[in-house]
Amino acid sequence: MNKSIFSNRRKKLLSLMTDGVALIPSATYKTKSHDTLFPFRQDSNFHYLTGYNEDGALLVLCNNHASLKSILFVTPNDPHTELWTGRRMSATDVQKLTGVDEVIPMTEMDGKLSEFLIGHKKLYIDLFCNANFFNKMVDQCRKLSPKRSKVGHRSPEQFIDLTPVIGKLRLFKDSSEIENIKLACEISNKAHKMAMAQAKPGMNESRLQALMEYIFKCEGAQGPAYGTIIAGGNNATTLHYENNDMLLVDGELVLIDAGCEYNFYASDITRTFPVNGKFTPVQRDLYQLVLDAQIKAIDNISCGLTLNQNHDFTARIMTEGLIELKLLEGSVDENMEEKKYKKYFPHGLGHWMGVDVHDNTPSENEKDEEIQFKEGMVFTVEPGIYIPLDDETTKEEFRGIGIRIEDDILITKDGKENLTQSTPKSIEDIENACRAEPE
Ligand code: GLY
Ligand code: MN
Ligand code: MN
Repeated sequence: MNKSIFSNRRKKLLSLMTDGVALIPSATYKTKSHDTLFPFRQDSNFHYLTGYNEDGALLVLCNNHASLKSILFVTPNDPHTELWTGRRMSATDVQKLTGVDEVIPMTEMDGKLSEFLIGHKKLYIDLFCNANFFNKMVDQCRKLSPKRSKVGHRSPEQFIDLTPVIGKLRLFKDSSEIENIKLACEISNKAHKMAMAQAKPGMNESRLQALMEYIFKCEGAQGPAYGTIIAGGNNATTLHYENNDMLLVDGELVLIDAGCEYNFYASDITRTFPVNGKFTPVQRDLYQLVLDAQIKAIDNISCGLTLNQNHDFTARIMTEGLIELKLLEGSVDENMEEKKYKKYFPHGLGHWMGVDVHDNTPSENEKDEEIQFKEGMVFTVEPGIYIPLDDETTKEEFRGIGIRIEDDILITKDGKENLTQSTPKSIEDIENACRAEPE
């Protein structure tokens, strides 16, 4: 990506922070066991504002400094560490990549940071970040405070959560972000189609997971954007089942919630299909209910609507279907009043998506009003029904079934685009995809 993308984002963020300085640390390596580490994944906000993909860095955005508005502290090159973990970018290359005003070695941070904190009343920081980092920064401010030190200057006393401020910027995707999300969706679509063709009774869930993640990697994605869910039969009634270690059973459904991350952008697709390729009449009835609700939920989307409004709209359709199947009793209004659908459809209809699979949910304004859909926003639509095997209050034939159908939607100038519509979801298309020859 062009460095002007990152500097424009920083400029926009600075314009939202009146009288403020922001501190955004890079991700750090996390220990997996003893001296081995989890794979490194850059912090999403740090990446969004810099494009820089190494650890041990801190971005400072500074409104009141005369000339330096964006400063990046980076870990200097060190031949011994680099022998083990590879070359780091030089300060010159980091400057070229990110377009920040100055790159400073991390070793100088303790002395230099105060220069950027002085003159600001507000400190923008992720209030829920790594406690060590947060405490260290609070300490820096305390040392500078006129109330605490004889040589005090005007320095930050108000701490403001930076996450929803950046979250609001991240809601609007530019064309390069949309391109990345589309590519992620395309790769995930390929993996889902392959899973439909490959799944069969007796196969372990882990094998399907491996096959899908193999496609993610082969097609150039970094890997899964979140923990892949391959849930056969009753496992699908655990919403975030990630064990993926049981055998798929003839006559049962399998729910797959899997999406790759491509160039730092997520995709998020769920499909539910019969392990043996053919829906039973009961599975059909339940599946069609969820599918009708999901299609109507997508049809209902337009600029100005909100996630919660669409959730309530969809919950009503789900309620009507559940009454028709005699899973709920009474009138639609009574059931809606008491939110009885929650027994079967217990989660939200969807979430914002972008650099994170679950992007932040900022509010529209200080009154905490909900964000309305606008051009460039991306979110999921994912109704589901879950009836655990041990739910003795529900008719036996429905038990042990979990169904979710999930697509990723982009709001466009003229309406919306379903970015994952080529992943089969009608009963006919799914049964055909299950019959397809594995590629
Ligand atoms: N894959 C997690 C979710 O659908 O929200
Ligand atoms: Mn989702
Ligand atoms: Mn999902």
